[in-house]
Amino acid sequence: MSSTDHVQYANQTAKSITPIPLSSKPSFGAPEDPENSWTRSGQGASKTACIRTFGCQMNVHDSDRMRRMILDAGYAEVNRYEDADIVVLNTCYVRENAVDRVRGHLGELSRLKREGRVKKFALTGCIGASGESRDLQRQFGIDLVLGTHNTYELAEFVGLPGMEETHTPELPGTEGEHSAFVTIMTGCNYKCSYCVVPSVRGRMSCRPMENIVDEVHGLVSTGTRYVTLLGQTVDAWRESGKRFCDLLERIAEEAPRVWFTTSHPSNMEDRTLRLIGEKKTLVKKLHLPVQSGSDRMLKIMHRGYKSERYRRKIEVFRKAVPDGTLSTDIIVGHPGETEHDHEETLRLVEDCRFDSAYIFKFSPRRGTEAAELPGTPPERVVQRRFVEVLRAVEQNAFENNQKKIGSTEEIYIRYGRNPEEGNAIGETWSGHAVHVQTNAPPGTYVTARIGSAGPHVLYADPAEANSGDRAPRERPR
Ligand code: 5AD
Ligand code: SF4
Repeated sequence: MSSTDHVQYANQTAKSITPIPLSSKPSFGAPEDPENSWTRSGQGASKTACIRTFGCQMNVHDSDRMRRMILDAGYAEVNRYEDADIVVLNTCYVRENAVDRVRGHLGELSRLKREGRVKKFALTGCIGASGESRDLQRQFGIDLVLGTHNTYELAEFVGLPGMEETHTPELPGTEGEHSAFVTIMTGCNYKCSYCVVPSVRGRMSCRPMENIVDEVHGLVSTGTRYVTLLGQTVDAWRESGKRFCDLLERIAEEAPRVWFTTSHPSNMEDRTLRLIGEKKTLVKKLHLPVQSGSDRMLKIMHRGYKSERYRRKIEVFRKAVPDGTLSTDIIVGHPGETEHDHEETLRLVEDCRFDSAYIFKFSPRRGTEAAELPGTPPERVVQRRFVEVLRAVEQNAFENNQKKIGSTEEIYIRYGRNPEEGNAIGETWSGHAVHVQTNAPPGTYVTARIGSAGPHVLYADPAEANSGDRAPRERPR
């Protein structure tokens, strides 16, 4: 992903997990970062495997599942292709440059295979599910192509016995030992003009509540302290009369720290927004993609709401969660976007005062409606609009963050102290990313005063670990 077509803003750090915009989605853990590919080595293993993840949090989660199979099959994890017997590329298809990027990796893998250094490699995820995968398979000699629904078939590829035995779709993902991602629904029933998700992930399918609750219960009893509920439109989750808010309430009673991503404004109920403010165990941050501030564009995009409705949701959120953080996704340069539409987006950014945003330049995706639409603005216009939206978000975010200076915060440590940079990365209950000098390990809390703030992150004064590894607020209520 180039640094200009997707920018992660305020309250996000390279390592922060957050709203995950699909491809680039607020993403957690910068999945495209090679350092983020797993490096644990299986004891005594003579076979090696490398898995690289591109794109959204769902992909990070799918990679976790595949990783388990690979480890079960006796492979050790390595970080570099040239050290691996087998390689899995778990990919994203949201924007064209994502495919270009994966092409580069496929070229390198194909060469390493010819040289006998890599034995075989697989392409999985959204590109695997797309029409383009056959061409890629032919061109690069890929050994196995899997979509998003049949990742369990990787079992055979890595030499595990029957598929059925290893089909474990409900295994939790991991972010270190202390955090887990729990998928509550897959697919999407919307048909946004620009989006490939419905064609690669299929229609929405919701996991039963009891099944989700059991998983969360199991995770918490084995030490998980932070649960993130995942899905393309989590707030569309439903099960015989129960809605997402009911599920969220149950989970907030099971787990000590809970967040969810990502949501759709048409499904977001006011009572869910109020619940975020009420439940002590819910992290007070909301990722609610708006895409555009122009009603005309929202209609062309088939988003199903007008900007006024979005604004009203945000008002409810700000009132119910006064100390909360709000992030969004915005697309600039969608076909048909005029200067007036762009100004409407700037006005919405100003009104909603986002704490962070993922801003995307429109990228035509094969098979989507928008790819066939006329009227894509020229690149220089798109670039200017992109920068204008970016500056507006950054300005608001900076001002919002400045208000936190001087407050004392309970900070959940997500990434332990980095010896080079000297600080750990944590998250406040309001969802702000914080750099803090502490030796407290991931999954524990520190209490510290916020000393300064930039547009993207807060900086806390040095802090000692709390006595005990749990913050007082962490106990479910
Ligand atoms: N072009 C640009 N941005 C896109 N997104 C999804 N599809 C495209 C596309 N074709 C963005 C949307 C979505 C986020 C995950 O990625 O903003 O919310
Ligand atoms: Fe794509 Fe729209 Fe579904 Fe989000 S809601 S996954 S943008 S189709």
